[in-house]
Amino acid sequence: MSSRIRSQALKSKVMSAQDAAALIPAGSTVGMSGFTGSGYPKAVPPELASRIEAAHDAGDSFRLNVWTGASTGPELDGALAKADGIELRLPYNSDPIAREKINSGQMEYLDMHLSQLAPAVWQGVLGPLDTAVIEVSAINADGSLVPSSSIGNNKTWLDRAERVILEVNSWQNAALEGMHDIYYGTALPPDRVPIPLTRADQLIGQPTLRCDPDKIVAIVETAAPDRNLPFAAPDATALAIAGHLIEFLKHEVKVGRLPAALLPLQSGVGNVANAVLAGLLDSPFERMAAYTEVIQDGMLDLLDAGKLTVASATAFSLSPEAAADLNSRMEQFRGKIILRPQEISNHPELIRRLGCIAMNGLIEADIYGNVNSTQVMGSRIQNGIGGSGDFARNAFISCFVTPSTAKGGKISAIVPMASHVDHITQDVQVIVTEQGLADLRGLSPKQRAKVIIANCAHPDYRDALADYYARALKGSYGLQSPHLLDEALSWHQRFIETGSMKP
Ligand code: COA
Repeated sequence: MSSRIRSQALKSKVMSAQDAAALIPAGSTVGMSGFTGSGYPKAVPPELASRIEAAHDAGDSFRLNVWTGASTGPELDGALAKADGIELRLPYNSDPIAREKINSGQMEYLDMHLSQLAPAVWQGVLGPLDTAVIEVSAINADGSLVPSSSIGNNKTWLDRAERVILEVNSWQNAALEGMHDIYYGTALPPDRVPIPLTRADQLIGQPTLRCDPDKIVAIVETAAPDRNLPFAAPDATALAIAGHLIEFLKHEVKVGRLPAALLPLQSGVGNVANAVLAGLLDSPFERMAAYTEVIQDGMLDLLDAGKLTVASATAFSLSPEAAADLNSRMEQFRGKIILRPQEISNHPELIRRLGCIAMNGLIEADIYGNVNSTQVMGSRIQNGIGGSGDFARNAFISCFVTPSTAKGGKISAIVPMASHVDHITQDVQVIVTEQGLADLRGLSPKQRAKVIIANCAHPDYRDALADYYARALKGSYGLQSPHLLDEALSWHQRFIETGSMKP
């Protein structure tokens, strides 16, 4: 037994992953740890998947509702989805097998704002939580739990679940201890009080999670790495996007709308957001801070270079190389990295208070600046809204970044009408593609359309968008945000029928 289990009383609860998985009943709701491939349980879910497969082979039904922080890894989402073991998944997924099950109608998916899940569970609107399966990096002698590489909703799962299964992962660096800040002061109205956080580097809680020891039914020891996908190396497109955004931020500093160190940065998931961080490495900004959801490779580089003083988030979202590198020198980041529950990292009240600069990816934006972050051709889920809504609505400046085309140029990221809307025009202030940047602040819908088409659309689609807009000005029912309703989604329909949005 590893030295990571320091409570004598709890040592008796150590068992195999197979035995622990057997304690989870069919039809139950399970709250698992895990956020963007970090800190998810790695031993119990595959055993659970084997049990589910065996039940299905025997003709029995066995499906679970699975709640997490956000996306996890192949051992969790991949294994359970492959076994057809998930009835309802929430609040975020990026696993390809689970995505396919959702898009083929075999799995229900509730795509939620990440800040809103814990309060919804406390309200009771999602029903009871039967079992929590939580990865930790150690159990202290007093029974307190040292979190691992993500916090997500672990505090809420541990408090609300009827029974708790812990995975103690000795792969997680022992030096993580002390890098977490668990705030226990949240409450539902009318008992809510202001959360006392006014700076990204502030500690307002405690370094460990608490858990009623009587609820702990199993402890499983593991030594397995977090598994994230590598980031694509920034290509010319990503570098151009980063360049436009950094020029914009420099201009905002010059005209006095942003301080020289900027305001706390939020950077979304994905390759493009990571490339923007890489671009900031060569920018003139010094002593920046991040108040964000995930810490990607680019953010570690900024910390290493001393450009960033602190990164506050709820999880790491690192490439395998960066995760191994971080693990080998975790101690160097003490005091510079703070992991918090996602209800705090993504809290609208705190994002507005700190004045975050939000930078998120998108699937498509329309000519008026409505943004679709989630559903390809309006109906096929890519990942989910994640924290983009928490940040976009409440940010000091809300930016969206994207290549101007997808799928080798067959899809335009700027379309006449978004086929699904996650972020309404009021929450979208800046759109950046490799073609240029549209600063939409203070512009009416018709003024926005001209700037988005001119600055952001790919040349292959620009004339067609301008033509659509010109005809909409003549044929629209109203002229606030002109549209030709029989044509507005025709680009999407053309793609579905021909494989390209091009005429
Ligand atoms: N139509 C079809 N597919 C599209 C598309 C479009 N308009 N735009 C992007 N895609 C596909 C890409 O082709 C790519 O697919 P692949 O993995 O099969 O190659 C995938 O979406 C990712 O696109 P990419 O251009 O590499 O950008 P990204 O990695 O930056 O991700 C999002 C873009 C929108 C998928 C991602 O930012 C996301 O999930 N956002 C929502 C959640 C969020 O913002 N979270 C952060 C909050 S803190």
